[in-house]
Amino acid sequence: MKNGTCWVDEEGNFIQAHGGVIIQVEDTYYWYGENKDAETQGNRVPFLGFSCYSSKNMRSWHNEGVVLRAVEDDLEHELSTNKVGERPKVVYNQKTKKFVMWFHLDDATYHYARIGVAVADAPAGPFEYQGSLQPSSKHKDSRDMTLYQDEDDAVYLICSTDWNATTLICQLNEEYTGLTGEFKLAFIEQFREAPVVIKENGLYYMFGSGCTGWNPNAMLYGSAKEVTGSWLLIDNPCTGSDYRKTFHGQTSNTFKFNGQWYIMLDHWDKDDLRMSGYSFLPVRFNGNEVEIPWTEEFLGV
Ligand code: GAL
Repeated sequence: MKNGTCWVDEEGNFIQAHGGVIIQVEDTYYWYGENKDAETQGNRVPFLGFSCYSSKNMRSWHNEGVVLRAVEDDLEHELSTNKVGERPKVVYNQKTKKFVMWFHLDDATYHYARIGVAVADAPAGPFEYQGSLQPSSKHKDSRDMTLYQDEDDAVYLICSTDWNATTLICQLNEEYTGLTGEFKLAFIEQFREAPVVIKENGLYYMFGSGCTGWNPNAMLYGSAKEVTGSWLLIDNPCTGSDYRKTFHGQTSNTFKFNGQWYIMLDHWDKDDLRMSGYSFLPVRFNGNEVEIPWTEEFLGV
């Protein structure tokens, strides 16, 4: 898997799982993401739904199909093809035994700025749409987002709010289908997007991009002692050629494989979004400092 390029599934078709997430269920990895397999019109492709791929080794990916499908015959529906669905994230709820997906739900102008929620009984779906919500009554808009599941199984929504000026962190309810109402602001007026979180050596690290649409910019990271504590913005962790542009990529998720943390990037092709590539880059911790070096290939070992 050559980093920065399009990757293919086990049948040789391009993997359509952009802005995604990878979770492990027993000995299988599931990769969910945006299916952008349509012609780019202006700034976007029609909303098609979210794909799922499975793998035992992180290299050979089996297409499980579209697990939450766009609604084709009702343009008023929140999941219709004229909407935007981005950055699906999936967590497993031990208590309800459900897989719960949250995603950025929007209209084509990015003014709707809500969160969609869907639930499934099995990792490869199908996911049943539950409806949409706003993160808080004070900070109503939510655009780029992730879910972070802590060691105690508490799950947090981390999203860009206030027209992307600020990051908002909210705890999910026990079912993971709604919010508790408590929230914490981070990186106030720092205009961060595409958040992802790793916990290592007792600290939480958040990585993300700036706000330049499909164009790359510098990744920055910060750390905190608690997810809802005070976040300290630190610096750009990337090293190597084009480190000031995140190697022409943007963060989408993190995962641990064979004891090593990786960060996944989308390499957006804004003229033909379906041809956007991916990278899995190692995340190296040295004390409280973090380095993300460019590597040519993901070997998965
Ligand atoms: C990016 C964001 C992507 C997508 C894009 C649209 O900043 O991270 O998920 O929303 O803007 O231009």
